[in-house]
Amino acid sequence: MPLVTSTEMFKKAYEGGYAIGAFNVNNMEIVQAITEAAGELNSPIILQVSAGARKYANHTYLVKLVEAALIENPNIPIALHLDHGADFEICKSCIDGGFTSVMIDGSHHSFEDNIALTKQVVEYAHAHGVVVEGELGQLAGIEDDVNVSAEDAKYTQPDEVEEFVSRTGVDSLAIAIGTSHGAFKFKPGQKPMLRFDILDEVSKRLPNFPIVLHGASSVSQEYVKIIQANGGNLADAIGIPEDMLRQAARSAVCKINIDSDLRLALTAGVREVMWQHPEKFDPREYLKVGRAYVKDVVAHKITTVLGSEGKAAEILGK
Ligand code: G3H
Ligand code: 13P
Ligand code: ZN
Repeated sequence: MPLVTSTEMFKKAYEGGYAIGAFNVNNMEIVQAITEAAGELNSPIILQVSAGARKYANHTYLVKLVEAALIENPNIPIALHLDHGADFEICKSCIDGGFTSVMIDGSHHSFEDNIALTKQVVEYAHAHGVVVEGELGQLAGIEDDVNVSAEDAKYTQPDEVEEFVSRTGVDSLAIAIGTSHGAFKFKPGQKPMLRFDILDEVSKRLPNFPIVLHGASSVSQEYVKIIQANGGNLADAIGIPEDMLRQAARSAVCKINIDSDLRLALTAGVREVMWQHPEKFDPREYLKVGRAYVKDVVAHKITTVLGSEGKAAEILGK
């Protein structure tokens, strides 16, 4: 089973009121954890790679790890996506290098420059059978090299979305409704809030069009507590409540991006072993605990948040 694009995934997710989990991958253990969980639950999955992941692990290693996961999990559809592509060159490199989907993140450019850049990527991607995610609006927090402070967070303006989609030809659109990247999404005591009114307005203007949510980790306190109890310092880490993500998954949101929750789970496992067993120095002993925690997190997302359990077959047309 080769890699697939997200086209059929999003069509079925939209119709069925569920979402596809897009999980960031940086090494073998993370690829294994995500795809084992998805394989056991017959869930479609998107594996996404950031510029930082390519810098850390190397494009070829990551593609080959994903290809190995395809062989190990032949029953589920897997898409390979570039997360937050900053320019045409990185998108082209991923399109030429085996990815089935790319994001061109022109959200920090002017509306016209974002359109021009996104259109350029769409033309090249579509000519090569690859789909494209664009972004309108800016999330609070860190988007790769761009640091957008909470005060500067710019929600997506619904009156821009039709023009953006029709002029660029993008296949999906990431919007800013109050999510943010990282493990510190709200201040302590602040009530988590997402602008579902903006999401509703966007989906009215773009009927049957897949919407993407970035910055959608829930920052499970279970793993924060393990980290804290084993020498870590992550006080006040707060994420998006799961009921809000379920609400989003039932709507036009077809792709939900999760990275921080995987980082927390892996760190919790590694810390637990290293803190409690300072005599251990075999990487397999701590990485396997981290990998098991990441797998638990992904399984929980699929069954409880995304609603994508058992949906592999309908996407593969079986
Ligand atoms: O949206 C950002 C993702 O969490 C990727 O983060 O650029 O540190 O790999 P990264
Ligand atoms: P989190 O930091 O909330 O996991 O968001 C990840 C993301 O949006 C990747 O593009
Ligand atoms: Zn993101």
